[in-house]
Amino acid sequence: MLLREKCPILQFADLGDERGKLVVIEGGQEIPFEIQRVFYIYESDSTVIRGQHANKESEFVLINVAGQSKVRVTDGTEEFVVELNKPMMGVYIPRMIWKDMYSFSPDSVLLVLASTHYDGGEYIRNYNDYLDIMSGVK
Ligand code: TYD
Repeated sequence: MLLREKCPILQFADLGDERGKLVVIEGGQEIPFEIQRVFYIYESDSTVIRGQHANKESEFVLINVAGQSKVRVTDGTEEFVVELNKPMMGVYIPRMIWKDMYSFSPDSVLLVLASTHYDGGEYIRNYNDYLDIMSGVK
């Protein structure tokens, strides 16, 4: 499967009306997992690169609910960049995909939905280790 198919862009329905916009995301429905954790990243400078890890267990959906940022995903072979710039779109990131988040706008609020509670032990933070695992060396 191509990396773009493993990490699909999700378009959420707009339930807005004349009073304003409304986007609903329910675990197991608009996204393919039950949500165990929510966190959000804001006031990251445009020069900062966040993420820089892969997760052995966690799946994520990233949504810029305000402003914009970019996410680079790779499986060690292919890579692509998603520009998150609409509250109605997200990107699904399955297990064992390396991700970098960067180019945060000053008003960026990057919402992350996760399939697990936090466990620092499931993070791979060294890119060479990641490549070794993906190529079967480790
Ligand atoms: P980090 O993984 O570096 O954030 P990002 O991937 O967004 O760049 O996390 C920064 C710190 O926050 C680190 O000490 C771990 C802690 N943290 C938690 O305690 N729980 C969480 O759910 C997350 C995402 C991070």
